[in-house]
Amino acid sequence: MLKKVVTEFHQSLMDNVKVSRKKLLLLFVFSLVLVAIFSVQFSDFSMQNYIPRHEWPSVTCPFLVSQQTITPIDDTRHLLVSGYMDQRVKGLDVRIISLFNKNAKQPLYCLFCCAGSLSTSTPASVFPHPENFGFAYVTTDVMCQIPQDCNATHVTVLTEPFTQDPTKLSNHTWLPLRNRNKHLSDQEKLKFNFTVCISNLFGDYDNVLQFVQTLEMYRLLGVDRVVIYNTSCGQNLDRVLQIYSQEGFLEVVPWPIDKYLNPSPGWLFSISGGDIHYFGQMTTLNECIYRSMERSRYVLLNDMDEIIMPYQHNNLMSLMDALQKQHPEAGVFLIENHIFPKTIFEPSRRFHLPQWEGVPGVNILEHIHKEEPNRKIYHPHKMIIQPRMVEQTSVHEVLKAFGNKVKVPLDVCRIIHVRYSIREPSYKDFRMDKRLWDFQELLIPRVDEVLKKVGLLNETVRAEE
Ligand SMILES: *[C@@H]1O[C@H](CO)[C@@H](O)[C@H](O)[C@H]1NC(C)=O
Ligand SMILES: *[C@@H]1O[C@H](CO)[C@@H](O)[C@H](O)[C@H]1NC(C)=O
Ligand SMILES: *[C@@H]1O[C@H](CO)[C@@H](O)[C@H](O)[C@H]1NC(C)=O
Ligand SMILES: *[C@@H]1O[C@H](CO)[C@@H](O)[C@H](O)[C@H]1NC(C)=O
Repeated sequence: MLKKVVTEFHQSLMDNVKVSRKKLLLLFVFSLVLVAIFSVQFSDFSMQNYIPRHEWPSVTCPFLVSQQTITPIDDTRHLLVSGYMDQRVKGLDVRIISLFNKNAKQPLYCLFCCAGSLSTSTPASVFPHPENFGFAYVTTDVMCQIPQDCNATHVTVLTEPFTQDPTKLSNHTWLPLRNRNKHLSDQEKLKFNFTVCISNLFGDYDNVLQFVQTLEMYRLLGVDRVVIYNTSCGQNLDRVLQIYSQEGFLEVVPWPIDKYLNPSPGWLFSISGGDIHYFGQMTTLNECIYRSMERSRYVLLNDMDEIIMPYQHNNLMSLMDALQKQHPEAGVFLIENHIFPKTIFEPSRRFHLPQWEGVPGVNILEHIHKEEPNRKIYHPHKMIIQPRMVEQTSVHEVLKAFGNKVKVPLDVCRIIHVRYSIREPSYKDFRMDKRLWDFQELLIPRVDEVLKKVGLLNETVRAEE
């Protein structure tokens, strides 16, 4: 009996020893883990120590700044384009031009990076533009208030209020906030009198001759900058764009909308389907207005085959001086569109120039027959605006503005729009309009010079002359 007890005792003792060995091993592994964690912590700590304390905020935010013109909001179907300071609407300081899926509604929050440190988040007010033509994606303004004492440099949009846990932001992309120069005078800010915003370039558009003629015409009229949104284009036009942007006259904004959505080549969902109106034209036009707001006195909103042409002035500045004198409160000037069919050639062909032989595209100097507009049906306009007086725009009209709108009489200014005609072929009501020829002497050598740089000028023909 005693022996049994002793053996049992011995046995349990042995078990205990076994347990202690296991415990010891566990303890050892645990301490290894602890050491590892501490050393990681310590290295973090020593790194922070290495950066002088006054520079700490500079490593807090922004962690990751978007290098793209289209930036998805995490955990949503929405896309952000660009963030602008805009203190024209009371209580909201920032406007983020965006593309929202109108079927996905959820509360959103803005978080700011205040010159290097994180703010608290503020609720976002979401304003879809009123026109969507039936498409699922619509141009939208996300507007937020900046928290007090925050010198905001970057903004990001969250689906939940920020809990002051920066690790949750490690993947988040920030947008730089632009138009932050309120403290500068207009003289310092207004680098341009006129900016032309051309919405979207897509497909393999390669209408080089008309494009170069149009840009040179605009330069003669006093335009300082042309902004164009590029999804894709033809090879020759690509070279033209590169030459103009190197020189600084043209700003090419990458617009890879086809990487995110199925863009429609048309304007109405029920006809052409797709996710978004005309490759996102409304979004790019609005983006261009905000991009130009600080730096340009006026913005022209038109397509690349259109020239807004003064008929009583030699340039846009004297036109606008005159119009603004008559309408001091106006911020939007509607210009009537006139179609010059590219199928009707001026009979003498005097501007069918040999050096432009083989240059792809339409020669606008050869198309001077203007269709008489049918005033019984809707007649579209394009616009010259003061960007600071416009909040939201559509293609043919401004949706929200602070100033008045004026329809400019067509003998003062109208659009020369060289394109195919939508009228039936039997239609015969045309008028000669040779306004473009007034500029030909200055225009032709400038066009030649650009085509030469691109390598498209037919110089063999020239030499034979
Ligand atoms: C805000 O921050 C920028 C740098 O990010 C700085 O240049 C500017 O002076 C700051 N403004 C104020 C009012 O602190
Ligand atoms: C960060 O992004 C990576 C890769 O896209 C993903 O695997 C990870 O879950 C993300 N982390 C957070 C906190 O969202
Ligand atoms: C803008 O127009 C004014 C008045 O015509 C002129 O003095 C100024 O030089 C122009 N600015 C630019 C950038 O062309
Ligand atoms: C326009 O976009 C296309 C497609 O991304 C690209 O190949 C081309 O180089 C771009 N052109 C310019 C001038 O940026």
